[in-house]
Amino acid sequence: MQSKRPCESRTIMTDMVLPSETNPLNNLFGGELLARMDRAASIAAGRHSRHITVTASVNHVAFNQSVPLGSVLTVEAAVSRAFRTSMEVYIDVWMEDRNTGDRSKANEAIYTFVAVDERGRPTEVPPLEPETDLEKERYDAALRRKQLSLVLAGKMKPNDATELKALFMGKQD
Ligand SMILES: CC(C)(COP(=O)(O)OP(=O)(O)OC[C@H]1O[C@@H](n2cnc3c(N)ncnc32)[C@H](O)[C@@H]1OP(=O)(O)O)[C@@H](O)C(=O)NCCC(=O)NCCS
Repeated sequence: MQSKRPCESRTIMTDMVLPSETNPLNNLFGGELLARMDRAASIAAGRHSRHITVTASVNHVAFNQSVPLGSVLTVEAAVSRAFRTSMEVYIDVWMEDRNTGDRSKANEAIYTFVAVDERGRPTEVPPLEPETDLEKERYDAALRRKQLSLVLAGKMKPNDATELKALFMGKQD
């Protein structure tokens, strides 16, 4: 299968935070942000695989910064590594300053999607060819994140998680 680059799956969604999407502190409700990220990541995984994709796991999410009512939020998702049927999708969330237009990083997350056929059976996806330093860094770390997710889901024995073990035993950067 012909490999693809992360820019071919990059998906950018910009939207405003409305009152119905906020918590009692008038900041964006976490579940609403998760849904926005899931939607962008699903489109990115679909662009990479050209198949139906389903969310298999939310590997990581960090709500580092609250997002006030009225903010303009941009969710940017791209496939960071493709395995056999699964893809890791990295999501960066940016907040735009209303006065200056400057963007600051608000949050980030990492989801795993699986490409499936019409009957929901996992199906193969093209390999990913990272280009930039950041894409290469995310690509390199994706295997240990996959192993951690599988171990936590009870789908892999800790002993078989070789990349993960190497990290804890100091054999990685
Ligand atoms: C995701 C799903 C297709 C996986 O099915 P499965 O029977 O576990 O299939 P497999 O064991 O062949 O796994 C398929 C791939 O998913 C990966 N995977 C499965 N669970 C995973 C997890 N928790 N974390 C990371 N990867 C996972 C496997 O490693 C495999 O990847 P690979 O082929 O690239 O090596 C199936 O569990 C499913 O349909 N889940 C529901 C999805 C859904 O409805 N999501 C929305 C929730 S509301």
